[in-house]
Order: sequence, then C-alpha cells, then structure tokens
Amino acid sequence: MLNKKWWHETIGYQIYPKSFQDSNNDGVGDIQGMIQHLDELQELGVNVVWISPINLSPMVDHGYDISDYFQIDPSFGTNEDFEELIQEANKRGIKILMDLVINHTSDQHEWFKEALANPNSDFRNYYVIKEGKDGLPPNNWRSIFGGSAWEQIEDTNEYYLHLFTKGQPDLNWENPMLREELYQMIQYWLDRGLGGFRIDAITHIKKNYDYINVPADGPDNLATVWEHYRDATGIGEFLGEMRDRVFTDNDVLTIAEMDVEDPDKWEEYFGENGYFSTIFDFYHTPYSIQQEKYKEHPVTFIEDMKTKMFAKQVKANGRVLFTNFLENHDLPRALNRWIPESEIHFNSASALAMMYFFLRGIPVIYQGQEIGMVDYPKDSIEEYLDLPTYNNYENYLLEGLSEDEALHQINIECRENSRTPVQWDASEYAGFSTVKPWFDVNPNYHDINYAQQKDDPHSLLNFYKKMAVLRKNKAYQETFIYSDTVPFATEIKGCVAYERQGIESIFVICNMTNQPMQVPVASVEEILLTNGETDIYVDGYLHLKPYQGIIFK
Ligand code: NOJ
Repeated sequence: MLNKKWWHETIGYQIYPKSFQDSNNDGVGDIQGMIQHLDELQELGVNVVWISPINLSPMVDHGYDISDYFQIDPSFGTNEDFEELIQEANKRGIKILMDLVINHTSDQHEWFKEALANPNSDFRNYYVIKEGKDGLPPNNWRSIFGGSAWEQIEDTNEYYLHLFTKGQPDLNWENPMLREELYQMIQYWLDRGLGGFRIDAITHIKKNYDYINVPADGPDNLATVWEHYRDATGIGEFLGEMRDRVFTDNDVLTIAEMDVEDPDKWEEYFGENGYFSTIFDFYHTPYSIQQEKYKEHPVTFIEDMKTKMFAKQVKANGRVLFTNFLENHDLPRALNRWIPESEIHFNSASALAMMYFFLRGIPVIYQGQEIGMVDYPKDSIEEYLDLPTYNNYENYLLEGLSEDEALHQINIECRENSRTPVQWDASEYAGFSTVKPWFDVNPNYHDINYAQQKDDPHSLLNFYKKMAVLRKNKAYQETFIYSDTVPFATEIKGCVAYERQGIESIFVICNMTNQPMQVPVASVEEILLTNGETDIYVDGYLHLKPYQGIIFK
C-alpha cells in the first residue's frame, strides 16, 4: 500500500484557457472567466484544475512559448486575477496546477533576446547554440513540429536548437545558472499557493550533444531521432535535482508529460520517491495505438486500447498511480476517436467515461468532455490556426496525398479539434463570448451545451457528476484509489471489464459495442452505477444493452 498523499484523492480537470470562458468580451478566454465557473467545477466533483500556460507569451504555440515566467499574459488577466483564482478555488476545495514549460522559452524572452544581441553575455549559455557545417545546420534533426530543429541566427554561421517551433528555443539544462533561475521561478509560484504543476515536454530537457547527422527518414532529408533528445541518458540528474530543490518540501502534485516505456523505471520516475508524483503518458491514446489505424476513420479500436490500458494497469498494481485520461489539448476529441460517428450518443459517451474513470490512478477530465463535445472538421485548411497543423498538412502533400485527402487526414487527427470554445449555452457563440471568438465555435452548440445538460438529470454532465460522487464515496474511495485493477472477460470483443480488488470488490463492465452482450459474473450484490437498465442479471449473466456500462459490487 502506498503512503497516503493528499493528491491521491484527485479528480482532475484541464482548462485550456483561450477556449474556456471569455469574461471581457475580447474573444479570448481568461482568468475571470475561470472564476465564474468554479462553482460548476466544484459541483462536478473536481478538486485539482490544471491550467495550460497563462504566462506572458507571443502565442506562437498558444502559450507554450513563454516570454516572461513571472507575468500573466494580459489576454488572460493580471497576476492579481491569478491570485484571486487560486484563493477562490481553494475556498471550494480546489487546487490549481500551473503548466510548467521549462524545456524551452519563447524567442521573445529577455534571456534569448540578450543571448542573440550580445554573444558574450551569460545568457548565450542558457540556450543550445552551435556552429553550422558547410552552410548547413549543425545536424539533420527534425523538429517535433516539422522542419529542421535548428534556426540560423541572422548573418552568422550559428544556429539555435528548437525541438518545437522556431519561436521556442530549447533551454540548455547543462548550465547550472539556468537551472537555478528555473528553481527560483518555480518556488515563486509555489509561494502563491499553487497545488503543483503539470510539467511540459520535460522528457526533452537532456540531449545527446554529439550532433552527428543521422540517416534521413523522410522526403525532407531530415530525421526524427527520439533517442537523441527524449529521455536521454543522464536526464535523471536534472530531474532528481529539481525534485529535491523545489518539489519534495512543498508537498505538491507534479504531473510530468512523459512516457516511461520501461516499467522497471516507473518508480524512479514517479510515485513515492520518483522525480514526479505521476505522469501523463500517451500509451493508451491514439498516439500510440497503431498509428496506421489511427489514419482510418472512424476509429473503433477499443480492443487495442483495452490491451494497452490493461497491460499498464496490471503492472502498476501495488506500485504507482498513473493519470487516466481520454482527452487533452493535444488530441482530437475522444468520442470521435473511439466511437463511430453515427453511434455517438449519451450511452456510448457515458460508457467510454465509465471505462476509464474507475481505473487505478488519477482520473482527469478535459474541458468540454463532460458534455460530450466533439471534433469540428473544417472545409478548408485556412480555417486552422496552429503551426504544426500546417506542417503536417504540407507533409501529407509531400507524401503524395491530394489537397482533399490531406485535409481529410488533418480533420481526423488534428489537435485543434479539442480547442474550440467550450459550449456553455445555446446563445450566439455558445455563451463563451459575446464577440466572434479567436477560434470558431462548433456549430453544434445548439444541441450540445452545458446549460441544457445542467437541468437534465439524464445528461452526460450529470452522469459525470454521479461518477465523481461514486469515486469519492467514503465506503469505496480507498478501493478506487489504492486497490489492484484485475481485468476479466478480456476474450469478449468490445467488452472492457475489470475488478478493483480492495476492501470491497468492485466490478466495472462496459459494453463498448452496438450489440447486446452477455457477460458471465458470479453475483451482483448491489449496482452502484449504470447508464442503462438495472434489471439485467439473469441466470449468472449480465445482459448488457449496446453501450451499457455497469458498476457493481
Ligand atoms: C506539449 C504541449 O502539451 C503542447 O501543446 C506543446 O505544443 C508542446 N508541449 C510544446 O511546448
């Protein structure tokens, strides 16, 4: 049994600030807009809210390019607004997590500007700057967002490294002065009363600095070489130092965005003595579930997800807690990923929710997921705003897809799908703003919106609330948090079934198909939650309706 921590009881919620709620009618979401909805988040059962970056930023990557760590971006409000948010949230038992973006800064950060303006300045060594070779960049690494990972510094033979857009120069973690500055900044924010951080792209802070060219793997003559800049040898020294300097004594929740593929390394990276409390990994998401299949539409690969998810759960038993999530701001909407379009409705959405919410770990809801928001495919590529979208589109054209085919592909996989404004009500612009928002609202807001679901006892929103109430029920909470996940009936296709074996034995069964399903179970003592009929246990079998989920003991 793990030593108890306050954050083990977390039901998390992610806010993507630009799209959550606009309070000052400039078309962009803001902090006062978040404060307006704290009561609803509390009613939803949420007690930790992760906010994607709100620091000063030129918004090349929508805030993941920070130009001043100490200032809140004026489009979101002021530093005082943020402190008000922390306090108002705390009053409602909600802790706020900031997004800690420390693999890179913006190219508009003073450090970077100083580094370029003055080659002798100490800030030069805050970034990764190298000589080019024969008029070419130092090597042929591809940026994660496409194109070379190096940008030439004007009129020189020097280049800076950027694993993401060229507006996001990578920081040089080898430099102790830089690390010190970052720790001070982290402590500054913790002193404002934060609950912790979600930590961005942290797996990239260490690079193998040999800079050799590698065999090209695409028509752009570049190569993606994860082993050189993801989880590179020696990264643990930096992560351990950061934990010891700023995390341990502050008793914070730290959620690192990283995959730790080798289960033998889990305890080193997260959990009781790990570098972080837990991780957001993408092992069970469409990212890693057979990339080729992901290109088909609609995608109904529940079986693949089940296999991956359960393999991870079973290995985590008794050891560590993962975060469990279906969506975030880098993924398209889960309903479009896992449910065929004509079958997206209350039952399928609630079954999908039950499937992940009761696993061992920390459940996290992404804004809009609780009302069943879906993708908003575009008629033309110009309707998109994100740089990587355009890079991916160009790549598809290079690979030989027609413009229509490339757009179709982007519509399926694009992360911008989850960034449309939250649909609060049926008024113009969905109650997100009174003016045209920075990114178009999905026109289906008349049918899918918060206000309508709030008053409907049978809505998805109210089902999410019921799930949260059940997870927090004192009689079962220990079981849901700490007990083992034991899959069963795995041979039944489309059936996701597991037992949480703790003080209580609680069973979760979800029929993720559009057909009736019979699942043998020894007994049903009490049904704790279902999205369908309750009178379904006959002769040793549960007779589940299509997309019926049930939780019982
Ligand atoms: C991961 C973030 O989630 C994503 O949105 C961002 O573009 C990259 N890291 C770069 O910061």
